[in-house]
Amino acid sequence: MKAHWLDGQSEIGATELREQGVHYELHPTQESAYRADVDRLKEARGYVQEDVVELTPQTPNLDAICAKFVDEHSHDDDEVRFVLEGDGIFDIRSNQDAWMRVVVEPGDLIVVPAKRHHRFMLTDRKAIRCVRLFRDEGGWVPHYR
Ligand SMILES: [Fe+2]
Repeated sequence: MKAHWLDGQSEIGATELREQGVHYELHPTQESAYRADVDRLKEARGYVQEDVVELTPQTPNLDAICAKFVDEHSHDDDEVRFVLEGDGIFDIRSNQDAWMRVVVEPGDLIVVPAKRHHRFMLTDRKAIRCVRLFRDEGGWVPHYR
Protein backbone atom coordinates (compact mmCIF):
# COMPACT_ATOMS: atom_id res chain seq x y z
CA MET A 1 0.00 0.00 0.00
CA LYS A 2 1.24 3.43 -0.91
CA ALA A 3 -0.87 6.45 -0.07
CA HIS A 4 -0.54 10.20 -0.36
CA TRP A 5 -2.63 13.38 -0.29
CA LEU A 6 -3.72 14.34 -3.81
CA ASP A 7 -3.45 18.09 -3.12
CA GLY A 8 0.18 17.74 -2.01
CA GLN A 9 2.63 14.92 -2.18
CA SER A 10 2.97 14.07 1.51
CA GLU A 11 2.66 10.39 2.24
CA ILE A 12 -0.07 8.76 4.31
CA GLY A 13 0.86 5.77 6.45
CA ALA A 14 -1.36 2.97 7.69
CA THR A 15 -1.81 4.70 11.06
CA GLU A 16 -3.01 7.96 9.50
CA LEU A 17 -5.31 5.99 7.19
CA ARG A 18 -6.87 4.29 10.20
CA GLU A 19 -7.24 7.66 11.94
CA GLN A 20 -9.19 8.71 8.85
CA GLY A 21 -11.51 5.76 9.34
CA VAL A 22 -9.99 3.63 6.58
CA HIS A 23 -9.15 0.24 8.05
CA TYR A 24 -6.04 -1.37 6.57
CA GLU A 25 -4.36 -4.75 7.06
CA LEU A 26 -1.53 -6.58 5.28
CA HIS A 27 -1.74 -10.36 4.82
CA PRO A 28 -0.10 -13.12 2.76
CA THR A 29 -2.04 -13.91 -0.44
CA GLN A 30 -2.10 -17.72 -0.05
CA GLU A 31 -5.57 -18.69 1.16
CA SER A 32 -4.15 -21.07 3.78
CA ALA A 33 -2.26 -18.10 5.21
CA TYR A 34 -4.99 -15.40 5.09
CA ARG A 35 -8.14 -17.47 5.76
CA ALA A 36 -8.09 -17.20 9.55
CA ASP A 37 -7.49 -13.41 9.47
CA VAL A 38 -10.22 -12.83 6.88
CA ASP A 39 -12.65 -14.98 8.88
CA ARG A 40 -11.79 -13.00 12.01
CA LEU A 41 -12.50 -9.73 10.17
CA LYS A 42 -15.84 -11.10 8.90
CA GLU A 43 -16.82 -12.10 12.42
CA ALA A 44 -15.68 -8.83 13.98
CA ARG A 45 -17.36 -6.52 11.44
CA GLY A 46 -20.39 -8.54 10.42
CA TYR A 47 -19.48 -9.40 6.83
CA VAL A 48 -21.51 -12.44 5.81
CA GLN A 49 -20.87 -12.68 2.07
CA GLU A 50 -17.59 -13.21 0.26
CA ASP A 51 -16.61 -13.53 -3.37
CA VAL A 52 -13.60 -13.06 -5.63
CA VAL A 53 -13.68 -10.57 -8.49
CA GLU A 54 -11.16 -10.45 -11.31
CA LEU A 55 -10.64 -7.79 -13.95
CA THR A 56 -8.08 -8.18 -16.75
CA PRO A 57 -7.54 -6.58 -20.17
CA GLN A 58 -9.48 -9.61 -21.54
CA THR A 59 -12.57 -9.00 -19.38
CA PRO A 60 -15.55 -8.31 -21.68
CA ASN A 61 -16.81 -4.74 -21.36
CA LEU A 62 -13.89 -3.81 -19.10
CA ASP A 63 -14.19 -0.09 -19.87
CA ALA A 64 -17.91 -0.09 -19.08
CA ILE A 65 -17.29 -1.95 -15.82
CA CYS A 66 -14.55 0.48 -14.79
CA ALA A 67 -16.76 3.46 -15.69
CA LYS A 68 -19.10 2.48 -12.84
CA PHE A 69 -16.36 2.95 -10.24
CA VAL A 70 -14.47 5.97 -11.56
CA ASP A 71 -17.00 8.64 -10.59
CA GLU A 72 -17.11 9.73 -6.96
CA HIS A 73 -19.72 7.74 -5.02
CA SER A 74 -20.52 6.14 -1.69
CA HIS A 75 -22.35 3.03 -0.49
CA ASP A 76 -24.52 2.18 2.50
CA ASP A 77 -22.15 -0.74 3.23
CA ASP A 78 -18.38 -0.84 3.66
CA GLU A 79 -16.33 -1.55 0.54
CA VAL A 80 -13.89 -4.30 1.57
CA ARG A 81 -11.18 -5.42 -0.83
CA PHE A 82 -8.30 -7.83 -0.22
CA VAL A 83 -5.97 -7.79 -3.21
CA LEU A 84 -4.67 -11.19 -4.36
CA GLU A 85 -3.10 -10.14 -7.68
CA GLY A 86 -2.64 -6.96 -9.71
CA ASP A 87 -3.19 -3.49 -8.37
CA GLY A 88 -5.65 -0.62 -8.23
CA ILE A 89 -6.10 2.97 -7.12
CA PHE A 90 -8.63 4.12 -4.53
CA ASP A 91 -9.17 7.84 -4.08
CA ILE A 92 -10.94 8.25 -0.74
CA ARG A 93 -12.23 11.47 0.85
CA SER A 94 -10.70 12.27 4.23
CA ASN A 95 -12.75 13.39 7.21
CA GLN A 96 -12.01 16.94 5.98
CA ASP A 97 -13.13 16.06 2.40
CA ALA A 98 -9.59 16.07 0.94
CA TRP A 99 -8.60 13.32 -1.48
CA MET A 100 -6.35 10.54 -0.23
CA ARG A 101 -4.88 8.40 -3.04
CA VAL A 102 -4.30 4.80 -1.96
CA VAL A 103 -2.57 2.43 -4.38
CA VAL A 104 -3.31 -1.17 -3.37
CA GLU A 105 -1.18 -4.18 -4.23
CA PRO A 106 -1.22 -7.93 -3.44
CA GLY A 107 -1.63 -8.49 0.30
CA ASP A 108 -3.42 -5.19 0.96
CA LEU A 109 -6.80 -5.41 2.69
CA ILE A 110 -8.63 -2.10 2.75
CA VAL A 111 -12.03 -1.09 4.10
CA VAL A 112 -13.59 2.05 2.62
CA PRO A 113 -16.16 2.85 5.32
CA ALA A 114 -19.87 3.03 4.54
CA LYS A 115 -21.08 6.48 3.39
CA ARG A 116 -17.52 7.63 2.64
CA HIS A 117 -17.12 9.10 -0.84
CA HIS A 118 -14.49 7.45 -3.04
CA ARG A 119 -13.65 6.38 -6.57
CA PHE A 120 -11.65 3.47 -8.00
CA MET A 121 -9.41 3.08 -11.02
CA LEU A 122 -7.25 0.32 -12.43
CA THR A 123 -3.59 1.09 -13.12
CA ASP A 124 -2.17 0.94 -16.65
CA ARG A 125 -1.87 -2.86 -16.25
CA LYS A 126 -5.67 -3.03 -16.04
CA ALA A 127 -5.58 -6.14 -13.88
CA ILE A 128 -6.72 -6.90 -10.37
CA ARG A 129 -8.05 -9.95 -8.53
CA CYS A 130 -9.44 -9.44 -5.08
CA VAL A 131 -11.64 -10.86 -2.38
CA ARG A 132 -14.76 -8.80 -1.61
CA LEU A 133 -16.64 -8.96 1.68
CA PHE A 134 -20.20 -7.71 2.17
CA ARG A 135 -22.75 -7.33 4.94
CA ASP A 136 -25.51 -7.50 2.34
CA GLU A 137 -25.41 -6.86 -1.38
CA GLY A 138 -28.22 -4.33 -1.23
CA GLY A 139 -25.83 -2.02 0.59
CA TRP A 140 -23.50 -1.94 -2.35
CA VAL A 141 -25.59 0.19 -4.72
CA PRO A 142 -23.46 3.25 -5.58
CA HIS A 143 -24.77 6.72 -4.74
CA TYR A 144 -23.01 9.18 -7.03
CA ARG A 145 -22.02 12.51 -5.60
FE1 LIG B 1 -17.34 1.92 -4.39
